[in-house]
Amino acid sequence: MKNSKNIIAHGAFPRTRMRRNRQEEWCRRLVAESSLSVNDLIWPLFVQEGKAKSTPIAALPGAARHTIDRLVTQVKEAAAAGIPAVALFPSVDAGKKTPEGREAWNDENLVCRAISAIKKAVPDMGVIADVALDPYTTHGHDGILHRGAVDNDATIAALCRQSVTQARAGCDIIAPSDMMDGRVGAIRDALDEAGFAQVKILAYTAKYASALYGPFREAVGSACALGKADKRGYQMDPANSDEAVREAALDVAEGADMIMVKPGLFYLDVLHRLSTSFTVPVFAYQVSGEYAMIQAAAGKGMIDGDAVMLENLLACKRAGARAVLTYAALDMARLLAKKHYT
Ligand code: PBG
Repeated sequence: MKNSKNIIAHGAFPRTRMRRNRQEEWCRRLVAESSLSVNDLIWPLFVQEGKAKSTPIAALPGAARHTIDRLVTQVKEAAAAGIPAVALFPSVDAGKKTPEGREAWNDENLVCRAISAIKKAVPDMGVIADVALDPYTTHGHDGILHRGAVDNDATIAALCRQSVTQARAGCDIIAPSDMMDGRVGAIRDALDEAGFAQVKILAYTAKYASALYGPFREAVGSACALGKADKRGYQMDPANSDEAVREAALDVAEGADMIMVKPGLFYLDVLHRLSTSFTVPVFAYQVSGEYAMIQAAAGKGMIDGDAVMLENLLACKRAGARAVLTYAALDMARLLAKKHYT
């Protein structure tokens, strides 16, 4: 008894001083438990029809919709900065939208042309493309409607066609963001049957019905279509975390190569749970609303935007993210490269 008390006493202050390891920069670097590097960054990019045009997105300061030629230039810059992968989102002309989102499986659609242009110009850049029908539907929902609700199984068939179409264009990672049940397994089978066994699936596993997607919906033009409707019938309830574990178990069993938690910062607990419960890589998506809040506050001089952005991304890494999708990827990659230690 006396002995164990001594051990406690020996371990306590003043013998133990937590600040000792925090004193110098070199020591803080040695004892750091997590870190952020360019290898962790995925850059989401918006693509639009036309030539030589970049249209700034008001709700997403620093981001723009690019025509394919401009997009390729952006991707070259990302490659030069060491970014491993980009994620593409098309802003589809209203005239191409239908209730079933047929344009999604047109081999010549905007995102397919963007994928092949990027793979041709920058073959070593990882290209991720979303699978969901919302850029292509007149109603802005991620799937096909039946009596006002998204029909799960009819939507899966469409998602499989969309996935194979994007794989044919050269897409490396198919990222289903639609939250239909059973879609990961069905997409895996469809890809394998079409000869795309090497194409990876990054499942938006725990995608919450969040209020933080507003700027994104403005960027791709699904906000107007969606109107006052919401996606609570298929995206997850922000109240739930056990449900995310069940979703992850299903996606992993169905063959997901990577899984994702989205949004990031408000859902660090979910990120941590999934990354400790599963050995599959877990990614975080710092979504448009999170990014916009930081940019807006920084724009008003209220916070140091770069420092807050780095801290936010590092928080995702600490919580267990293997990589983070962020609209700030290029800025952060450049910032991290500039960091010098003496
Ligand atoms: C489409 C999709 C959305 C996002 C990524 N893919 C929006 C939505 O579900 O309405 C959001 C990304 C962001 O806000 O940055 N299924």
